[in-house]
Amino acid sequence: MVNSVSGFSKFTKAEKIDWLISNHFLNNAKAKANLERYWNANEGLQKLHDEFTENTISNFYLPFGIAPNFLINDKIHVIPMTIEESSVIAAASNAAKFWMQRGGFKAEVLSTTKVGQVHFMFHGNSSEIDAIFNEIKPQFFEQTKAITKNMDARGGGILDIELVNKTAKISGYYQLQVTFDTMDAMGANFINSCLEQIATTFKTCSDDIQVVMSILSNYVPNCVVRAEVSCKVEDLAVDASISGREFADTFIQAVRIAEVEPYRAVTHNKGIMNGVDAVVLATGNDFRAVEAGVHAYAARGGSYSSLSHASIENGVFKFWIELPLALGTVGGLTGLHPMVKTALELLGNPSAKELMEIVAVAGLAQNFAALKSLTTTGIQQGHMKMHLFNILNQFEATESEKVILVAHFKTNTVTHSAVVEAIENLRA
Ligand code: HMG
Repeated sequence: MVNSVSGFSKFTKAEKIDWLISNHFLNNAKAKANLERYWNANEGLQKLHDEFTENTISNFYLPFGIAPNFLINDKIHVIPMTIEESSVIAAASNAAKFWMQRGGFKAEVLSTTKVGQVHFMFHGNSSEIDAIFNEIKPQFFEQTKAITKNMDARGGGILDIELVNKTAKISGYYQLQVTFDTMDAMGANFINSCLEQIATTFKTCSDDIQVVMSILSNYVPNCVVRAEVSCKVEDLAVDASISGREFADTFIQAVRIAEVEPYRAVTHNKGIMNGVDAVVLATGNDFRAVEAGVHAYAARGGSYSSLSHASIENGVFKFWIELPLALGTVGGLTGLHPMVKTALELLGNPSAKELMEIVAVAGLAQNFAALKSLTTTGIQQGHMKMHLFNILNQFEATESEKVILVAHFKTNTVTHSAVVEAIENLRA
């Protein structure tokens, strides 16, 4: 029987842990020790982490890895990746190396507009609300000046405010649709503050305006980056077993299947997000916002589809992706988390636009590596090779056992059961 608790948020960290251990772990000292051994010995650093969020009792580590050899717009990058899944960083590195020898990645930000909305109800005549909006619109800009002045000085701010009639969907439903450029900031707090001020100003115009909520949208189809690789078809021949043309044709078929088949598109895009999320997380950005926005974009045609595309034109293979990405390189966690600072420094302290390019490239590289494996050797060969250490750790293999088993699996296929059998044989 789980006990409820009142005032938990006001407990000290020690009190929270004691309550948890006595109520949920039968006072098990091992459970408490496990939480404590993940604390950072540096008290200041631990406090910083404790204060990132609420009710913190320990840390949850994720690996921080790097993928070298990314040639992007003629500049070499080492990309930081925070991810727990084996073979993702190896795959990114593999694709980077492959394309390094074929001209590298080209990336370009196509647009950077973000959107926020004041959702409200008005049951009067639509011409009345049109007139109110047109009269008050300059005041919206005027009364948000205190919030926007620094952003304006950087070249961003509120771009426009429109009244949108949504009464065909819900009786009396309208929006103020506000577009923003937030420059190097992801801009969520800036956008929401502007929207709440606009809503406050708007409400004073008429008692018949009922504001429901004011919030940014994580759907950013006008904040889009494109990344691309291309090379002559014959340059895709990776070894004697397959010609460049054969490789390209099968690869393009795999992309086409993801374009038309949602079951495949979801997995295809999951592979892309392996790269995207890992860089988004390492650079302290909001991966939930990115995920939600990217998947909505993948379904913008009415059916969930591939985020990447491929073609052959005049003997040239081209593979590209367009991604909506609202990222920041200032504000939020970017200036607080020491590892995020290291990740951004590693990338040469990029602007938000440069980070958008790097993230899109990581997604495209990941997709290329996965499709290359899927359409040639199959995914398991490479993935399981990387997963071997996880299985060995699961069976608490000693260092000397690992050396023997890694050597064994250089020439044998890694499957879970084959590893278990090999461990058992070795221990017998
Ligand atoms: P390989 O050709 O056997 O690797 O590939 P290699 O040992 O010949 O090494 C070549 C290069 O690969 C290395 O160059 C590295 O760049 C990289 P080097 O450093 O030697 O100059 N590489 C590594 N980097 C870091 N650590 C390593 C490592 N090994 C190789 N240990 C590889 C092996 C796994 C890279 C390849 O088979 C591959 O890319 N497979 C795809 C793996 C993948 O996509 N994993 C994602 C998880 S599966 C998934 O969730 C997504 C999926 O469902 C998506 C979809 O369906 O579309 C598949």
